[in-house]
Amino acid sequence: MSVKNFLSLTDFSRGDLEQIIERAAELKRLHESGIQHRPLEGKTMAMIFELKSTRTRVAFETGMHQLGGHAIFLRPDETQLGRGEPIEDTARVLSSLVDIVMLRVQDHVNISRFAAASSVPVINGMSDRFHPCQLLADMQTFAEKRGSIRDQSVAFIGDGYNMCNSYILASNQFEFDLAISTPAEFRPDEDVIDGNNRARWVATPEEAVSGANLVVTDVWSSMGRENERSERREAFRGFQVNSDLLDNADANALFMHCLPAHRGEEISDDLLDDPRSVVWEEAGNRLHSQKALLEFMLG
Ligand code: CP
Repeated sequence: MSVKNFLSLTDFSRGDLEQIIERAAELKRLHESGIQHRPLEGKTMAMIFELKSTRTRVAFETGMHQLGGHAIFLRPDETQLGRGEPIEDTARVLSSLVDIVMLRVQDHVNISRFAAASSVPVINGMSDRFHPCQLLADMQTFAEKRGSIRDQSVAFIGDGYNMCNSYILASNQFEFDLAISTPAEFRPDEDVIDGNNRARWVATPEEAVSGANLVVTDVWSSMGRENERSERREAFRGFQVNSDLLDNADANALFMHCLPAHRGEEISDDLLDDPRSVVWEEAGNRLHSQKALLEFMLG
């Protein structure tokens, strides 16, 4: 039997993704009504975090608990992975011990290797290529604030890294138009944008944001690239999202950021408190969308 993995948004059909987003809203309502829903009793998830996390870890751990299951947090340097046990061996062993595995890795190749050797479902909790769990929360947040994102205009400003790549895949899956503005040397991965007819790279942040219904950015120096921070601050000058730039967007535009944010770099000091910002709801929806994902994959 083939195993359902969630390594990128293209692993699921458009219908599956829409079902998860709708279910996330239902699970949020259940939770806010104080109604317990425990379909994953007896299920265990292993979470391997090669890189730091607040939202992804807490949302998965809390989500598994609320659904009646259990989550185990594993750091490579505290497991045999850190002593050189091969990824494939670890995947085979964990497959006989737990029901699902989530990994946050620097190099996407490692999550692909793990998934190829795993006989239980694998979730990408972020890699250098993609951050699909974040997109579930973003799409849920847009839907609850503005309704369907289909045929809406989205602008991504900043680094063409894992969040930008994920928005490119999302533009196809959720059928919205995506304008991307990055410095020329930090464009998104060519194999991700090539052939995608809903996403286009534009020359300036102003052009990307013009008329947009949603404006998104991410940090300029993602995890693993902190040592490039001073050069990147120079390279990304002019790509900050601030209230003046947002004024070019649609009057009802929303602003999202996956967090953590670097105020004074990719956003102005005050932007998270701008009335157009929905970053706190976006972060809170990590819980509900990841619960919906777990239910979909294990239910
Ligand atoms: N946005 C996000 O993935 O946050 P964490 O790095 O805190 O998990």
